[in-house]
Amino acid sequence: MLESSKTILETEAIPRVNLTFMDNTHFEEIEMVKELGELITLYQEEGDENNDPNTAEAKITEKLIIWLNHTIAHFERENKLMQQTNFPAFPIHSQEHEIALNRMKRIVRLWQTNKEIEPLSDFIFSFWPNWFNAHVNSMDMMTARFALMNGFNSQSTL
Ligand SMILES: [Fe+2]
Ligand SMILES: [Fe+2]
Repeated sequence: MLESSKTILETEAIPRVNLTFMDNTHFEEIEMVKELGELITLYQEEGDENNDPNTAEAKITEKLIIWLNHTIAHFERENKLMQQTNFPAFPIHSQEHEIALNRMKRIVRLWQTNKEIEPLSDFIFSFWPNWFNAHVNSMDMMTARFALMNGFNSQSTL
C-alpha cells in the first residue's frame, strides 16, 4: 500500500456523539489504531530482522490483541446501552458490530498465522477508518441521540 493512500483518522475528524463513555472509547480507539499504523509503517520500511521478544512483529501482535479486546468491550457497552434504552434499531446496530468484529478477528488471526503485513495494512489504513467513520456517523450517533432523548445521562458510564 502506498504511503499516500493510507488513511489515518484524527480524533477531531470523528463527531462527538455527546455521551461521554462513547466519545472516550472512540478517542481511545483512534489513538490505538494510530499507534498500530505507526508500527505497521515502520515494519513495512524496516522489516523484522532479529528475533528477540521485542521485535516489531511481537509489538504489532501485542497492540492488535489490546485493540481487539478494547473493541469487544466497546461494542458490548453500546449493545448494553441499546438494550437498556430499548433502541428500536438495536438489531441493525449490533449486527454491524458483529460483522466488524468478526472481520477484525479474522485479520488478527491471519496476521498471527502468516505475519503478512499487507492485509493488515489494508485493514488498518483503509477498511477500518472508512468503517469506523461511517459507523460513528450513523449507528452510534442515532443510538446516542435516542438514549439522550429518553433520559439517559450523558455522563453516565452504564
Ligand atoms: Fe462506537
Ligand atoms: Fe456502534
